[in-house]
Amino acid sequence: MSSFVECSLCGFKYSVNTPLNVCDRCGGALLFRYDLNLIGNKVSKDILKERDDTFWKFIEFLPLKGEDSIVSLGEPYTPIIHLAKDFAFNFSNVFVKDDGRLPTATFKARGMSVAVSCLKELGVKRVVIPSAGNAAAALAAYGARGGMEVYTFMPKDVPLSTLRECAHMGANIFLVDGLISDAARLVSKFKDKYGWFDVSTNKQPYRFEGYKLMAFEIAEQFDWNPPDVIIFPTGGGEGVIGLWKGFSELVELGWIEENSIPRLVVVQSTGCAPIVKAFRNGESEVAEAWREADTIAAGLRVPKPYASYLILKAVKETNGYATAVSDEEILASMKALAKSGLFVCPEAAATYASLPHLKDEDVLDGDDKILLYLTGSGLKYLDLFKIDFKSYPVLRKDADSLP
Ligand SMILES: Cc1ncc(COP(=O)(O)O)c(C=O)c1O
Ligand SMILES: [Zn+2]
Repeated sequence: MSSFVECSLCGFKYSVNTPLNVCDRCGGALLFRYDLNLIGNKVSKDILKERDDTFWKFIEFLPLKGEDSIVSLGEPYTPIIHLAKDFAFNFSNVFVKDDGRLPTATFKARGMSVAVSCLKELGVKRVVIPSAGNAAAALAAYGARGGMEVYTFMPKDVPLSTLRECAHMGANIFLVDGLISDAARLVSKFKDKYGWFDVSTNKQPYRFEGYKLMAFEIAEQFDWNPPDVIIFPTGGGEGVIGLWKGFSELVELGWIEENSIPRLVVVQSTGCAPIVKAFRNGESEVAEAWREADTIAAGLRVPKPYASYLILKAVKETNGYATAVSDEEILASMKALAKSGLFVCPEAAATYASLPHLKDEDVLDGDDKILLYLTGSGLKYLDLFKIDFKSYPVLRKDADSLP
């Protein structure tokens, strides 16, 4: 039910009837705009409460003609779980939201299910993506479900589980001897020649629409009183931009108060922290690519996100913050969270690792309601959970005592 698409830099407006990438005039990222008053008159919080708990319940807020356009693999609301105070660095109100429960086990399912649905409606048949891994796996899954040809360009050291997913779900795979930025350059070079629609992070307006529904889902789960702070692991930045767009739309609808938009805190890895650097220097965009980007959190290894000005705007306008954590802290946090039953990926663990930093830097109040966004499952990075097989006794079938 969108009205138009608008350039986030120069404001130029585009019609919604053809597949769109970035602004032809200035290269700015494009965003869907809606007549929210009109939608708000048709859909109420009470109506939404009666619908199934999946983000598709907000379909009127998506650029789709109707339910028949949905390409779904069954996306549930993901749970919000409270962390005990002694496990949360003495903060009383820390919650996690576990998106590892979505199809393909990361939050990337949100953006890709909506993007594939929109693109299918527009007649797109062949899609391409440069990806650190999880976005490609999600596109492979939804592309397969939607009957599209999927082409993926990933760094050659992409986590093996994602590579397996892409391969078995029928994606065409190119491995790149470089980082996601190198993969992106190759996609730009070849996409027109091969007739592929580019679904790159921040280079099309569709994926943001899936991520914005994180804000809708969170707001409803918190009974329309969103948390004070959301801590989000950030690479390309689509998640944070989506959250900001979603909460802004909720304010425009009058469904939440303006001062209840959560402060958006970006977490990166010290091995690749271009947004943190720009934030600390008071810059409005990432001027140069992070050199020798290196981190175990593959999804955070984005040396120069496209349209970084939007990520920094989301942080600044929500009175948010940006901080970085080391790979050692990420690994320790993966272990700590696993000990409490949460088996999460390194990107997700970075949010937990950031808590002591944010405490030291006086960013959080003791009674703040804080949400750590767990963007994916540890099952996708099994290699990082080391075990020593030899340390486990192997019992004979008829063992009558334990060693
Ligand atoms: C599990 C996971 N978390 C977080 C991110 C970062 O998300 P974004 O690119 O929206 O900043 C990624 C990106 O690939 C990811 O795979
Ligand atoms: Zn523009």
